[in-house]
Amino acid sequence: AFPQSVRLVEVGARDGLQNEPEPVSTETKLELIDRLGAAGLRHIEAASFVSPKWVPQMADHREVITGLKRRDGVVYSALTPNLKGLEAALQCGVDEVAVFGAASESFSQKNINCSVSESLERFAPVLDRAKAANVRVRGYVSCVLGCPYEGEIAPAKVAEVAKALYEMGCYEVSLGDTIGTGTPLKAKRMLEAVARDIPMANLGAHFHDTYGQALANLYAVLEEGIAVIDSSVAGLGGCPYAKGASGNVASEDVIYLLNGLGIDSGIDLSDLAATGTWITQTIGRPNRSKVGVAIAAQ
Ligand code: HMG
Ligand code: MG
Repeated sequence: AFPQSVRLVEVGARDGLQNEPEPVSTETKLELIDRLGAAGLRHIEAASFVSPKWVPQMADHREVITGLKRRDGVVYSALTPNLKGLEAALQCGVDEVAVFGAASESFSQKNINCSVSESLERFAPVLDRAKAANVRVRGYVSCVLGCPYEGEIAPAKVAEVAKALYEMGCYEVSLGDTIGTGTPLKAKRMLEAVARDIPMANLGAHFHDTYGQALANLYAVLEEGIAVIDSSVAGLGGCPYAKGASGNVASEDVIYLLNGLGIDSGIDLSDLAATGTWITQTIGRPNRSKVGVAIAAQ
């Protein structure tokens, strides 16, 4: 059955901007995050404490987190692949962090320079340290519906990595269709495998729209009871380690779908659409939200 309400995790400032060819200023990022909060987003992934050599667009992570104009009730989170990243994020006063693993060995090597099992070994002390600091940790699994290097990924492999993250203490595991190759039945089967070990309430869907399937896939997993969706305003983004991957499903499109289904999200669609128009104009990008484009044309 469909959930009554859905929590959106807005990843535009991180997943969306990490792949931009031209640098986006810290000031623009901070204004984007502020506008997203004003539109009603309650969970905003704001930065990535990763190596600036690997992802130059996220090199200003400290300035972003310490420069936030914080709103009550909004969780500002950041990616932290290792203890070095976590310590820096904690120093900046981040609310929540996320570790990110993969269901594909090759993707794990390209993205974080280690095997899947090594990544889990690296995450364990990050979870321990975050717990001691009273900071919640989200876990990502990439390549849940396909890998740019390995092709098909077995649902059992996704379930295994997701379970490891959950048992390690991640309060929520976000399932990433990194390259957007999934289709609805495949998404359902993958989710069924993962949900044998993890309660549905602790799972999220993080779908990219490369092949135009993200909304269809979301509809399929909403029907299974998924109540957390990651999305990116204006469909910004891609992944630097997944060639050809386009952005996350657009937040505006997700809200329009949810509104039509009578599922509450607490987000103001017109404010969000205006934010999508503003950020795409500011960074000189096409708006990849169909809903955003339609609203802007009215
Ligand atoms: P490594 O080279 O194996 O690490 O990288 P290392 O420990 O040997 O360190 C190498 C250098 O990086 C050193 O600097 C470290 O200090 C530095 P040097 O001595 O050479 O000057 N370093 C760091 N600097 C800042 N912050 C840190 C940090 N750690 C080390 N935390 C590492 C390993 C994980 C660091 C690297 O591979 C990396 O940064 N990868 C990031 C990749 C990334 O950000 N990918 C995009 C996000 S994941 C994604 O988009 C998928 C998702 O959206 C879900 C989906 O769609 O599927 C989440
Ligand atoms: Mg992603």
